[in-house]
Amino acid sequence: QKEQLPLTVSINKKSYAIKADTRTTLLDLLREDLNLTGAKKGCDHGQCGACTVHIDGERVLSCLTLAAMVPGKEVTTIEGLANGDKLHPMQEAFIECDGFQCGYCTPGQIMSAVACVKEGHTKSVAEIKEFMSGNLCRCGAYNGIVESIQKVAAK
Ligand code: FES
Ligand code: FES
Repeated sequence: QKEQLPLTVSINKKSYAIKADTRTTLLDLLREDLNLTGAKKGCDHGQCGACTVHIDGERVLSCLTLAAMVPGKEVTTIEGLANGDKLHPMQEAFIECDGFQCGYCTPGQIMSAVACVKEGHTKSVAEIKEFMSGNLCRCGAYNGIVESIQKVAAK
């Protein structure tokens, strides 16, 4: 018997009153219940970064976060990054610097990249790579990703 929990969560500044199993991850809540499929399920085990979102401005792996931990906090996903029709500077930089190929890892890369700049881990390529090391890219778009981060950090 699954235990359903009533939850009120705030995602991209919108409030949702939902019911979720106590073991539901934030990633499944986003993708399956709220149809916010930007965050990707790569590994579901904290090893690829494709599911990265922000909680109260800090990056987290949504596959390792329980939905039940989220009420009272603000979740931001890739869907909430742009300002209306205006892309976030990091989204623009990824386009300009070829920061992606197939795009599967990209939402997670961009959420991590935004945190990287915000937290100031951009003093060297090595520092950027270290901060971004939890976000894997099977297409090998790493150089474009680093360039994108440098570009936004320089602004
Ligand atoms: Fe969360 Fe891979 S799906 S880290
Ligand atoms: Fe294809 Fe990164 S762009 S996995």
